[in-house]
Amino acid sequence: MDLTDIDASAWAELETAAADPQSGFRYVSLCSVDTEAKPQARMVVLRAADRSARCLEFHTDTRSSKWLELSVNPRVTILGFSAESRLQLRLQGAVELHGPGSGGANAAWGRLPARTRMAYAGGPPGDERAFEMIDAAEPADEAEGKTRFGVLIFRAWTLDWFQLRQQDNRRALFCYDEAGALSSCRWVNP
Ligand SMILES: Cc1cc2nc3c(=O)[nH]c(=O)nc-3n(C[C@H](O)[C@H](O)[C@H](O)COP(=O)(O)O)c2cc1C
Repeated sequence: MDLTDIDASAWAELETAAADPQSGFRYVSLCSVDTEAKPQARMVVLRAADRSARCLEFHTDTRSSKWLELSVNPRVTILGFSAESRLQLRLQGAVELHGPGSGGANAAWGRLPARTRMAYAGGPPGDERAFEMIDAAEPADEAEGKTRFGVLIFRAWTLDWFQLRQQDNRRALFCYDEAGALSSCRWVNP
């Protein structure tokens, strides 16, 4: 496989993962730097991928720490590993935030199943919760959730592709221009 094929297959895997809960890249780490310059990382579900724009879509609660952090510093790394293909993808870029009421958030909300919408109907993420409340079924209002629902659109600037092999690991670096076209690529030592 040449480098352009490797780039294409990496993005094809990401597109597959967005549609397949069993896929290796369905859950990835979203890594950012908080307002105190400390590194932060958390797992997120990959909701959509667009190979031509080099974009990935994630959903989150706008009351979460990450939303505030990303509104101050939108630069992120997305890190994923697929055990099946023994592939690590490390993408650097920036996120655009589409908050409640925006066209992007409304459209994504409209595509969410009811059970997923309920994830946004509870109390603020990270706030203390009484232990007795852990298993209690709280009456929650789905419409409330929409007022907290946000979409993160990540645009990749670079991809660091690493394949773990029995011998002779492989690594390649890819850069994208503003339109998402591949602007450079090269093999590097793993
Ligand atoms: C497998 C998995 C998937 C997750 N997916 C999401 C997600 O798509 N969006 C999200 O906001 N949090 C998701 N979470 C929770 C986050 O990892 C994190 O704990 C939470 O959002 C609070 O992060 P923050 O304090 O950095 O904002 C997921 C957790 C796990 C274990």
